[in-house]
Formats: sequence, C-alpha cells, structure tokens
Amino acid sequence: MELYYNDNGFLLYHGDTVEILESLNRKVDMIFADPPYFLSKGFTMRAKGRVKCFDKGNWDKARPLEEINQFNMSWLSKCRNILKDNGTIWVSGTYHNISSVSNCLMELGYKILNIIVWNKPDAPLTLSDSHFNFSAEYIIWARKYKDKRHFYNIELMKYINGGKRMSDVWNLPTTGLWEKTCGKHPTQKPLRLMYRIIMSSTQSGETILDPFAGSCTTGIAANLLGRTFIGIDQDARFLDLGIKRKTEISDVETANKIFRKMTENPSDVMVIVNHARKELKEKMIETGICYLRAGDSKGSLCVTPGFERMQYVLLHTGGEDVRLFKLKKKGCFQIWAKETLEKYGFNPEHATYYVVIQFDNKDEMPLSKTVNIKERINTYRARLRPLSDFVGIK
Ligand SMILES: C[S@@+](CC[C@H](N)C(=O)[O-])C[C@H]1O[C@@H](n2cnc3c(N)ncnc32)[C@H](O)[C@@H]1O
Repeated sequence: MELYYNDNGFLLYHGDTVEILESLNRKVDMIFADPPYFLSKGFTMRAKGRVKCFDKGNWDKARPLEEINQFNMSWLSKCRNILKDNGTIWVSGTYHNISSVSNCLMELGYKILNIIVWNKPDAPLTLSDSHFNFSAEYIIWARKYKDKRHFYNIELMKYINGGKRMSDVWNLPTTGLWEKTCGKHPTQKPLRLMYRIIMSSTQSGETILDPFAGSCTTGIAANLLGRTFIGIDQDARFLDLGIKRKTEISDVETANKIFRKMTENPSDVMVIVNHARKELKEKMIETGICYLRAGDSKGSLCVTPGFERMQYVLLHTGGEDVRLFKLKKKGCFQIWAKETLEKYGFNPEHATYYVVIQFDNKDEMPLSKTVNIKERINTYRARLRPLSDFVGIK
C-alpha cells in the first residue's frame, strides 16, 4: 500500500477503504466518516419546471439493504481496529443508511454518545410533494468502548453556543461557494460542520482519519486546526481536488481567510460594515441612516445568509475612524429611491435605488482597543461580519 500524497500532516491513500484500513499500521484519535448514502437512483426528476439529478456517482448507487449492512459492517469493524482505545468515531448519513450504521456500531461494541441532527436552514426544496421537506442529516458520534472515557471539549462548545450547553441539534448552513474555489465534490461537507466536530472531540496535535475522504474537507479543517490527517478515497479525482485544497491553504493569507470563515459562529450577532467618506459618514451618523448600493459592484452590498442576524452597523473611513451603532430593528433594511435620500440631505450619485439601514445614533457601542479594523477589512465593499470581530469577545 503506497501513499498517494504526503505533505505536512496531510496523508492520502488511494483505493478501496476496507483494503487500506486493513493494512494501515497505526492508531488514530478520531475518525470522521461520510460513507456512501446509497441514495443515487441514476435518474433525473422534473417537478414544477425544475430538473434535479439524483445521481451522485457510481459509488453512491442504491443497493439492497443486506449489501448496505455488509458494507457498513466491514469498514466499521476495520475502523475499530485502528481507533485508539479512548478514541471516538463520527459517521454522517441520511435515512437511507443511518439506521444500518447505527445497528452496525452497536453490534461491533461501540457506544453511541449522540445522534446529532444537522439541520440545514438553507436546504433546497424537496421536489416530491408527498412528504416533508428534507432538511437534516444525522451524524452519529460513538466511542470505541462502553467503559473507556473519551474527550469532549464541553467548555469550548458552551463558549461557541453563547455560554449555554450545546444541544444535539445543530443549525449550520450547507457548503458555501467560498469552500468550492478549487472545484466541487457532489457531496462536499461544510468546513463549519467539521470545525465543530473536530474541536469538540479532539485536541491539538492529534490524528484524524477519514475513510471516505472525497475532497478532503476533514483534512482541510484538521490541518487548519493543528491536527494530522489521514484520508482514503477510491476516486483519484476527488483526492486530487483535496490536494488542490491543501495547496490553497499553504498560502497563509488564504488559510487565515478560510480559517476565519470556518470558525464563524452561524448564530453570531452580525454587523454590517460600511466604508463612507468622512463627511458622508458624519451625515449618516447625524441622521441614523446608512445607505448602500445593492448589487455586486465595488462599494455595494450583497444580501447574503446572516442578514437576518444583523444587529449593528459599523461605519469606517478606509478602515479608520470606526464607529459602531445598534440598528433600530434587527435584520431589517429597506429599499429607498434616490429622491427619498435627497430629502434627508444626501446626494447619492450612483444608482436610482439604495439599500437603507437605519440605526440608533444615540446607541453607540465602544470598540475593543485591541481590534485592528484595517486588518479585518481589505476592500471598501460593504460586508457582514460577526460582532465578535469588533468588540474583542474572546
Ligand atoms: C459522501 S462522499 C465524502 C465527501 C467528503 N466528506 C467531502 O467533504 O468531500 C463519499 C466518498 O467515498 C468514496 N468512496 C465510496 N466508496 C468507497 C470505498 N469503498 N473505498 C474508498 N472510497 C470510497 C467516494 O469516492 C466519495 O468521494
């Protein structure tokens, strides 16, 4: 068995996972597995003018239940051999395979700790109207032995959950475009999901194995978080995509950018950050009106997920003279015509309509002295950032 790739804590093997697991001569601290869900029926479905292909690839083809059970038993038993005695395993799935995985885990002697419900707030509409919309995946977390303690970072999970114990229902958006800059895998997992899994169950320097690595999302998150990664996949095209992603994060600036996005808490309070010339900014503060062009050009605003959590506006002039104010209404903006803004003494020149965000100019929030706003904002484009970026919450 030869290594397909080996770079700085990122090791890849190409081939059938059961065969490779059999000859892998080392122990790992944690396993994350995203095995085939066996849901691809190889057809295209049309509904209400929309077309959807239910074919993720040969590896995901629907199979009889008995075969699914056999497959799950074989790779899960091999995983158990290479998992350290205090190690844990995470396995994700949908209703197609998750009960089989759960039964196999119990039969093999693992102890199930949780079944996480990953609720996707941005799940696409299910085409069939004969049942509820699919918006969840299930992730089983189990340890190797019933009576051997495992690691769980309860304090960190509390911290990222606003000080409360984190529940087994996680609201996390699906994989974003920012995670697909090197290409796409048909079932790529979001880095934010992997961040939570890795940080809750491993410590710095430990080794994580993914027996169905795909585009190596687990490896990218693991390396960004100072863990070693071993990945296996039978499809070299997916491993090559993983290598591209690994190369991408060898650039420190890119790695920092991805790290920041990955660790962003999706339930964080958000701030709309906007550059304005000095005089314009003063006028905005005087009126409590912040306006922006809508659209995609420089200096304009893109409405992205997170807007519903927007509670502050941060006005700055080229990264200097930063002022932070509470919005009048959470997550709320209006579209105003140029003429309406003119009535308030503004003189907008670039568009007919503007996005307007109203804030309470008497409710200013002090900024943490340690935050370097310039470092956080590299263009003049308006953008949403978590409040914790600016008020120095740890
Ligand atoms: C659900 S995808 C994993 C996606 C991955 N989590 C990501 O974020 O990109 C499952 C992967 O398992 C691989 N696979 C399926 N059966 C396999 C087998 N028997 N041995 C090795 N890899 C396999 C497929 O090629 C596919 O890339």
